Amino acid sequence: MSAIPKYDRATKSLSLTATSPINIALVKYWGKVHESLIIPANSSLSITIDQADLCSKTKVELIPTAEGTEPQVRLVLNGKEDKITSRIRSIIDLMRERTEGVRAHDDSGYTLTLDASELRTHSLLITSENNFATASGLASSSSGLSCLAFVLSQLYGVPESFPGEYTKFARLGSGSACRSLYGGFVQWHRGFQAIQELTEDAAKVSDQSLARAVELSQESMEWWYNNLSILICVVNPGDAQTYQKDVPSTDGMKITLETSELMKLRLEADLAQKHIDQLTGYLEARDFPKFAELTMKESNQLHAVCLDTYPPIFYMNETSRQIIKTATKLNGQGNIVAYSIDAGFHVFLFTLKEDYVKVHEAMSVLPGIDQIIITRIGREGVKLI
Ligand code: DP6
Repeated sequence: MSAIPKYDRATKSLSLTATSPINIALVKYWGKVHESLIIPANSSLSITIDQADLCSKTKVELIPTAEGTEPQVRLVLNGKEDKITSRIRSIIDLMRERTEGVRAHDDSGYTLTLDASELRTHSLLITSENNFATASGLASSSSGLSCLAFVLSQLYGVPESFPGEYTKFARLGSGSACRSLYGGFVQWHRGFQAIQELTEDAAKVSDQSLARAVELSQESMEWWYNNLSILICVVNPGDAQTYQKDVPSTDGMKITLETSELMKLRLEADLAQKHIDQLTGYLEARDFPKFAELTMKESNQLHAVCLDTYPPIFYMNETSRQIIKTATKLNGQGNIVAYSIDAGFHVFLFTLKEDYVKVHEAMSVLPGIDQIIITRIGREGVKLI
């Protein structure tokens, strides 16, 4: 992967572009123990989706600032000017602080070196596009913010000071984004054993709250790559008239943690870690029926703690529930399909290739589904292009 930014002599700007996949959590992250450092209350495990089908593409340009003016930051998301959130601002501030300078070149081979102080005075133009509906529950924050954080680190010439640090940068944009740095199955460890570690040294815990690829044998990993089909049911919002969700996940998880007794029990019993350990075993054993059961139970538990939140939060709609009922029927003789739903109403379905047609046929006759995206596990995480 080449991290040498491109230099444009005409505009004197430096740029880099990357693409990043979305990921869907099988064991769900829900709740933070530190809001600004984005340290999760529990560990999580996700599956990376093939970025040939769903991805964010982000270009970042460093542009010289006119003399006497402050460096600006602009974000153009899917063709429209968007606001720079405090989280994006904090990643940029961190990159400006950590930059070690960068070397860029143009098409003719001309090379230019900019030191850290020069880079800090440049303005930024971020142009990002998703090939799917933003804020729809299709996890655009995971692909968008992992892409942005990674491009910024490369453009500012910021090396990792410990392995996995780039996942920390991505996490500061959005928790789930840290899992999009890798392909396959990815685990994000919460970074602490006991909660007092956090009060003693939050910064240290933050440095340990990292994502990494789940270690499976080559044979098992290839088996999942070759056999698992993923169907994404893009559900019509119905009365909601919009794909934007009612309660953004950041707010939803905060209220759940504050008010749900069930959530408290999930954390006390460390169910997420228990589920991660079980799931990892099923992945290694290539046990689809058990993988399916646990995936569905985890999804159900997320929506159960949301319902237990006061006032309750509903992410699923009638169509999502019909898809669950249809999957349950299909599983009558043993599990052939699993569903997983995040903080939205769209439904991710997992099935083995041999059952894919059966599952697709049963789902495609249901009303309320706008589109079924057929995809698979992505082998790659974020990458420069
Ligand atoms: C339901 O990562 O969007 O998708 O960290 O506040 O940005 P912030 O939240 P976000 O939450 C994702 C929640 C989830 C489950 C998951 O992806 O693990």
